[in-house]
Amino acid sequence: MELIKVNPAHKKYIALIELNRPKELNALNLQLMQELKEALRQLDEDETVRVIIITGNERAFAAGADIKQMAGKTAIDMLNIDQFSTWDQIRKTKKPLIAAVSGFALGGGCELAMTCDMIVASETAKFGQPEIKIGVMPGAGGTQRLTRAIGKARAMEMVLTGDFIDGHEAQRLGLVNRVVPVEMYLHEAESLAAKIAAMSPVAAKLAKESVNRAFETHLDEGLNFERKNFYLTFASEDQTEGMNAFIEKRKAEFKGR
Ligand code: CAA
Repeated sequence: MELIKVNPAHKKYIALIELNRPKELNALNLQLMQELKEALRQLDEDETVRVIIITGNERAFAAGADIKQMAGKTAIDMLNIDQFSTWDQIRKTKKPLIAAVSGFALGGGCELAMTCDMIVASETAKFGQPEIKIGVMPGAGGTQRLTRAIGKARAMEMVLTGDFIDGHEAQRLGLVNRVVPVEMYLHEAESLAAKIAAMSPVAAKLAKESVNRAFETHLDEGLNFERKNFYLTFASEDQTEGMNAFIEKRKAEFKGR
């Protein structure tokens, strides 16, 4: 891996992926996205990992898809390269994904953060979909996920003006889970990850899948999906352990089975 750094054992059960093109503000070129896809695939299969954090650096989470790589392309080139198909794989990651965002999260950077399940932001974070300023529009989920997260009026404004919002505004609008001073954002993401990593990974996987289903289907089907996944948790040892620990008034030790 050249353009990302991966530590599967960053903390107990927590993997950390750092986007690592600092000079280009972590612009997401094809190689970086391939590496990210492969890293997530491996971590998703790694039994020692329960939660994955994706981060950049203080100045930039990611300033978008790589404009220099795209500039000379034709529509047919774009269709053939189909760069956003990589993103479908990221969306299919089964383990909880947390984006720890400081600085620029623009265009594809904002979209990558939104592809994660939760966002922890620093006060200096800047979220935006500025594609309109370079004559294009969001292409990796921005018009869909931003609209679902913050509502039509504000999403429309951000997509049509390219204006940025800061961490506090992003939290007020429901785009991010937590906003903290810049020196704390990774630590805060780790605390959130540790809390989730202490739960049953089987239940976390099924619960994540069920919450995501809320965006993909109508209520009746979503409720049915949730119910089946709930029943499925009873196939796990973690369910027995969790319920017995409650009754015996002790802390549960989840094994992911
Ligand atoms: N692609 C390629 N290179 C980028 C980049 C990007 N998205 N964003 C920044 N860079 C490069 C700059 O070209 C510059 O490189 P050089 O030093 O070689 O000139 C370097 O990173 C530092 O950037 P700046 O000098 O511009 O830094 P700044 O502090 O003055 O400005 C910024 C920061 C406001 C983020 C500005 O860089 C910027 O506007 N970047 C582009 C943001 C953008 O339009 N993103 C959307 C891309 S399209 C997309 O993402 C499509 C999609 O839906 C997936």
